[in-house]
Amino acid sequence: MDIQCSDKELFLFKKIAHAAAEGSVPAYVVGGFVRDKLLGRASKDADIVCVGDGIALAQAVANRFSPPPNVAVYKNFGTASIKIDGFDIEFVGARKESYRYHSRNPEVAPGTMEEDQLRRDFTINALAVSLNPADYGQLIDPFNGQADLANRLIRTPLSPDQTFSDDPLRMMRAIRFASQLGFSIETKTWQGLCLQVERIRIISQERITEEFNKILLSEKPSVGLDLMYRSGLMHIVFPQLVDLAGAEYVDGMGHKDNFYHTLQVVDNIAPFTQDLWLRWAALLHDIGKPATKRFEGGHGWTFHGHEVVGGRMVPKIFTRMKLPQHEKMKYVRKLVELHLRPISLTKEEITDSAIRRLLFDAGDEIDDLMLLCSADITSKNKQKVKRFRENFDLVRQRLQEVEEKDRIRNWQPPITGEMIMAIFGLPPGRVVGDIKNAIREAILDGEIENNYDAAFDLMIQRAAALNLHPVR
Ligand code: CTP
Repeated sequence: MDIQCSDKELFLFKKIAHAAAEGSVPAYVVGGFVRDKLLGRASKDADIVCVGDGIALAQAVANRFSPPPNVAVYKNFGTASIKIDGFDIEFVGARKESYRYHSRNPEVAPGTMEEDQLRRDFTINALAVSLNPADYGQLIDPFNGQADLANRLIRTPLSPDQTFSDDPLRMMRAIRFASQLGFSIETKTWQGLCLQVERIRIISQERITEEFNKILLSEKPSVGLDLMYRSGLMHIVFPQLVDLAGAEYVDGMGHKDNFYHTLQVVDNIAPFTQDLWLRWAALLHDIGKPATKRFEGGHGWTFHGHEVVGGRMVPKIFTRMKLPQHEKMKYVRKLVELHLRPISLTKEEITDSAIRRLLFDAGDEIDDLMLLCSADITSKNKQKVKRFRENFDLVRQRLQEVEEKDRIRNWQPPITGEMIMAIFGLPPGRVVGDIKNAIREAILDGEIENNYDAAFDLMIQRAAALNLHPVR
């Protein structure tokens, strides 16, 4: 084999080769699997192309196992897949495709292996390995994909105009591979891409978002995000992020470019987390800045309340990007809303009650919030960074101390609304909420002890002031 495979993979390929030879259909491993093997990256799926009926080949391969694995058939796409030991293998017949200009759905016709390779997105994804008796294991590389792999280049096999126009999602894929693999986009391919950006509009949001998330999960997401911005794709896919770009000056006073600051923050957090949603929080932490930007004479630029406005933008952005609406969205919103809190505590304000409040408001998200906050320090002013870092370390230390002492994280006040209603014979309503909040605030402020008796006494006091008395 011209590529290095594990014993399990070799065993599977032999089975496929035998089934293909028996049915007299030439078969090849193609695409991402071959690319990733040559790059030394792990793969957990492989695409098999045969010059013939892909579904029939999948069935013939499955029958060579006992018991045979289930064959999932996608008739509309002419594909079938089987899963063996957690390894997915997808089968398809070689095809030539021609796309209608306004449609995302190609007209597919059976084709030769060469035609199949030619219709693929990039030279590095058009590499194939033969599974046929005459040249088993040989790499078939009609467009010099190997050289492009060595030179770390993304290039289309056909003219970029044709390849991107055929399937405009490939513009996102080009940028995603550049970000994921640390490759460059070859000049002509890049120029072709920039000319076609408007065509992204015919692609479904789900497919766009899938690629966008992969960019965000790459080792250095700024590479892909910046390429999206420079190509003009970002303007169409995510205009709110583009609104962060640029710096305005008044009376010689400017502010930082919040787009590049945001990219830096995402890069800063990347080594510490593979969690997509924490990376989303980093991407959106300053999204409210353009809407809150003001110039205050003599003072400079301010973005008061940008965390609140930004938090409010999160649900809309999640809806538009077709991202999960509930838990994940709430998590991102919470981090955006709280992102200034740890660092805004100055030395004098790092009181027990300020720390308790932060712990209470952040709950389980406190560690992620601290990561975000640390990533947010991007100033070039060394003095400023030193001050922020020292302050930040102090907040971290105090968080630990107060949490050990008071256990506020995920804490619930000792008196619940139900208890208040039962004790005073009250229906649900504002009064119940007011008493409950007063107890919570008093504990967080350290005015009363964090225990049932102290909370009970305060409840009686507050209720008496409202002329309410226990009914039992
Ligand atoms: N392909 C293509 N155009 C697309 C999507 C896919 O030409 N818009 C081709 C490429 O040859 C690609 C193969 O189909 O290698 C398989 O696609 P897919 O599984 O989506 O991507 P991979 O290249 O395998 O990469 P990854 O698994 O990282 O998504």
